[in-house]
Amino acid sequence: MNKINPLRLRSHRVTTLKGNTAVPGDKSISHRALILGAMATGETRISHMLEGEDIMRTATALMNMGVEIVHKNDGRWHVHGVGTGGLLSPSNVLEMGNSGTTTRLFMGLLASQPVTAVLTGDESLCSRPMARVITPLSRFGARFDARAGDRLPLTVHGCSSPSPITFTPPVASAQVKSAILLAGLNTPGITTVHEDRATRDHTERMLKAMGAPITVKADGHARTVSVTGEQELEPLDIAVPGDISSAAFPLVAAAISPGSDITLTSIGVNPLRTGILGALQQMGVTITLLNARDAGGEPVADIRLQAPDTLKAISPDPAIASDMIDEFPALFVAAACADGTSYFSGLSELRVKESDRLNAMATALAANGVSVEEFPDGLVIHGTGAPPKGGASVETHLDHRIAMAALVLGCAAKDPVTISDGRPIATSFPGFIDLMNCLNADIVDL
Ligand code: S3P
Repeated sequence: MNKINPLRLRSHRVTTLKGNTAVPGDKSISHRALILGAMATGETRISHMLEGEDIMRTATALMNMGVEIVHKNDGRWHVHGVGTGGLLSPSNVLEMGNSGTTTRLFMGLLASQPVTAVLTGDESLCSRPMARVITPLSRFGARFDARAGDRLPLTVHGCSSPSPITFTPPVASAQVKSAILLAGLNTPGITTVHEDRATRDHTERMLKAMGAPITVKADGHARTVSVTGEQELEPLDIAVPGDISSAAFPLVAAAISPGSDITLTSIGVNPLRTGILGALQQMGVTITLLNARDAGGEPVADIRLQAPDTLKAISPDPAIASDMIDEFPALFVAAACADGTSYFSGLSELRVKESDRLNAMATALAANGVSVEEFPDGLVIHGTGAPPKGGASVETHLDHRIAMAALVLGCAAKDPVTISDGRPIATSFPGFIDLMNCLNADIVDL
């Protein structure tokens, strides 16, 4: 993303948010639908796929490795699977843009295929740690040549005769788990990942729906997932649910604007993703799930939110951080508007997302008049129950969620909040500004 033409946006205080709308498809599920569709034998059809930049990186990378992917007149994306070991070496560098999920899932996918590929990305992605996947994937027999600090750009030398592994990731990460499971698909024998704390399980659910020999054993919050490799995957018709991580922004904007009442339709409510709903309820928000149903193995519902007059402060249990890991920037904004002190800890993972989200949000909130303290693994936010002062510009650091969180803060702040560059929003939430304004927000392009 060049630095020459930033998209400066400004968000003004609103009275109430009202309305009923849908958000784009889930980012995690869209990545997996394309990748697992490519590994299946036959044609997978995907409807309501997120058409954000991160997903287009995944689609383009697969096409560069010989997979045919077509967006047809029926509005669906058709993926012609090449089978679990059918990828070709790309003839050019794979450009991953801002997408950590594309990068880590591809590293897993390629680790057990006889291909060589060079992966690179933008300034944000090239600063993110890759050792967490390099370490387990090397044990399959793959080799990685990475820049200092195990960062992108890097070359993956996939292994032609991989060995299965059993691994316990040291950080709670669905990306690491999924990378290992994807490597296991083209590996003879049983690959096992043990998680001390369960993370989002979209890969497991989709593999099961595709007929893969996968087992998941639960023991309290822990999970042991095993997949038997070198089996055919059946193609699927997949309807991608709305992304709860995107929904979090209009939900928080409504929660901090007393009198608001909005409904977001067909949102994925996988229990490993709904931490934000529980957190908002604890803060005094009324959340009602309507039309709960199943869509291809994923729970889906319409979410109605009614805002209270005053939000209560919150101190979320760090043990459930992975159930809302992408929602903390939005939740920090809710805490800034609440009455009382909120304590957030156990969140050092937020320092290695698209930006250092603890620092970016602490800086953004402080600049807009919120009393906030930053710690190595969290924030303490002192809300007064009154709207924050606002009036400052927020640096978005190539991070879509910082950009959206700052605009949400502007919905409640006394003076408008400006962001340095709104272009990163397109990675996960194309149409965000129009959707927010349809709900009565007042976000303008400067
Ligand atoms: C994702 C997992 C999460 C999340 C990311 C998407 C996924 O990352 O932050 O936006 O699709 O698996 P970690 O698994 O590294 O926490």
